[in-house]
Amino acid sequence: MRTRGLADRSYETRGRLDDVSSPGRPRRLKTPLLWLHARVAAQIPPTRLFGVKRALLRLAGAQVGKDVRIVSSARFCCSGSLHVGDGTWIGHEVLMVGGDSEIRIGARCDIAPRVMLVTGSHEISISGARAAGDGFSRPISIGDGTWIGAGAVVIGGSTIGEHSVVAAGAIVRGSFPARSLLAGVPARVVKTLGHDPTPDLPWNIESSVRG
Ligand SMILES: CC(C)(COP(=O)(O)OP(=O)(O)OC[C@H]1O[C@@H](n2cnc3c(N)ncnc32)[C@H](O)[C@@H]1OP(=O)(O)O)[C@@H](O)C(=O)NCCC(=O)NCCS
Repeated sequence: MRTRGLADRSYETRGRLDDVSSPGRPRRLKTPLLWLHARVAAQIPPTRLFGVKRALLRLAGAQVGKDVRIVSSARFCCSGSLHVGDGTWIGHEVLMVGGDSEIRIGARCDIAPRVMLVTGSHEISISGARAAGDGFSRPISIGDGTWIGAGAVVIGGSTIGEHSVVAAGAIVRGSFPARSLLAGVPARVVKTLGHDPTPDLPWNIESSVRG
């Protein structure tokens, strides 16, 4: 008899991102086309043919900005909407996993190797056969210009303000203001990064997410 694992279970969507204006219903990812992305990307050298990988993700329903560079081993195992802003880098073995909630990554972000964005979770069940009870998912938002260090985990319901740094190995849960340096488990603000005195630099003028 086949045992039903966590991967087979559905997630109730909880909460929407307030800071994303998506007219109408947000576009959901099409999981068979994400599978296609994974199969094709597996044949592409890690840092080559970024345009092909962008096109495949767009085909799967993601909103991927221009000059987004996704390393071939990054995997998208989620079914909500996905927005990735212009110029963002998604590194080796990054994993986005969970249910139907939105993941929004701003422009010019750097997502280091093995970062995990996990929108899904479970109610803790005291009396059920499994401790992982009913599934639910919550959105994740990462502000423009943010750098997420290697191996960090961002849990659903988290919002990281723009131009923040998440130290390697941090576990982020909650909402954090712009220009935070977050570190530790659970992540705390260990430093506030100074303000950029040159607001008219090109990347400060406009950030857009293209479909
Ligand atoms: C965060 C980081 C950039 C250091 O930034 P920094 O401004 O030089 O920070 P500091 O070294 O002054 O550290 C500030 C505080 O955060 C702590 N800290 C820094 N990195 C930490 C980490 N990964 N985990 C836990 N705490 C960390 C420091 O111990 C220090 O704490 P203290 O004030 O109590 O002494 C660096 O530690 C890091 O994690 N880099 C990511 C590397 C990476 O992912 N590379 C992949 C390439 S994309």
